[in-house]
Amino acid sequence: AAPKARKSEYELYTFNTWLFGEERRGTLDTELATVLSSISVACKQIAAAVGRAGISSLTGVAGTGENVQGEEQKKLDVISNDIFSLCLRNCGRTGVIASEEEENPIGVEETTSGNYIVVFDPLDGSSNIDAGISVGSIFGVYSPAEECIVDMDDPEKTLASCITNVCQPGKNLLAAGYVLYSSCTILVLTIGDGVYGFTLDPYVGEFVLTHDRIQIPEKGKIYAFNEGNYELWDDATRSYIDSLKKPELWDGKPYSARYIGSLVGDFHRTLLYGGIYGYPGDKKNANGKLRLLYECAPMSMIAEQAGGLGSTGTERVMDIVPTKVHQRVPLFVGSPAEVRYLESFTKKA
Ligand code: AHG
Ligand code: MN
Ligand code: MN
Ligand code: MN
Repeated sequence: AAPKARKSEYELYTFNTWLFGEERRGTLDTELATVLSSISVACKQIAAAVGRAGISSLTGVAGTGENVQGEEQKKLDVISNDIFSLCLRNCGRTGVIASEEEENPIGVEETTSGNYIVVFDPLDGSSNIDAGISVGSIFGVYSPAEECIVDMDDPEKTLASCITNVCQPGKNLLAAGYVLYSSCTILVLTIGDGVYGFTLDPYVGEFVLTHDRIQIPEKGKIYAFNEGNYELWDDATRSYIDSLKKPELWDGKPYSARYIGSLVGDFHRTLLYGGIYGYPGDKKNANGKLRLLYECAPMSMIAEQAGGLGSTGTERVMDIVPTKVHQRVPLFVGSPAEVRYLESFTKKA
């Protein structure tokens, strides 16, 4: 139900009102709501750090060398990861955290209850950060798959337990969301009953509800692929992209290309305007670049909850059971019409 009529012009429908208010009572566990509230605080801190990067010399590389992805870490990759990890530890409800920037999942000793498993990409699109182009954070929350063992005297047992708890299919997600740091800072979240958007009011320092149950258009007119990889794609993907450009197939108006190189920015535009975002596998990386756990699965849950689809080209992203924490899968996500049309090429191959 849409939020009730405001009782006064001073009533603010904040993210915490949405989390802890009457509409969600009985459907959202307050322990999970506490985790989500702590994530929103982490993202406010990251928004401030990203917005002031140039002023406080936080642009550029961290000098920590490569992360487990083989990428050179930016200062803000490291800072965002620290902020996210600290907020999750300090909320006392997190059992295990898994980050793009950490080789292994980490058992959290500060857990007092809840025991939630949180996977996150603390800074997505970080290659854009020095140019001030939109970046984001992505997160997903699971219940434990088995009892979380955090035994400092038995690191092997602890690590095995953390990996089991983190390697769950997207269909097990209790919540998935992202924050886009752009012309506005907007938190987009689903807990399994639709997709909601909350825009940060910089004067108040709170996320306020601005998008009540986002529905992705059934069909769009925009595709977002890095066509620099065209020669590396398989024939099915190339034929699909070629077809989007043929005026005769689209009443004389071919698709438009938009690609900013930040998944969160490209996805958010796709969610609101319709169309498709794709990061296919290619000759160099058969499974593409995006990570299943903290990029593809959370974004696919959001897409599906908004009436869209998330596919690898041959199967539903949310059905895939991860075998490795940083496992990559091809991702095609967006409006049903475009994803189904894509699959008519890739499933035939
Ligand atoms: P991250 O910055 O978290 O490593 O993610 C970058 C991802 C994603 O945000 C973006 O869509 C994609 O990398 C861009 O990759 P290309 O530069 O290869 O197009
Ligand atoms: Mn990265
Ligand atoms: Mn990313
Ligand atoms: Mn990242």
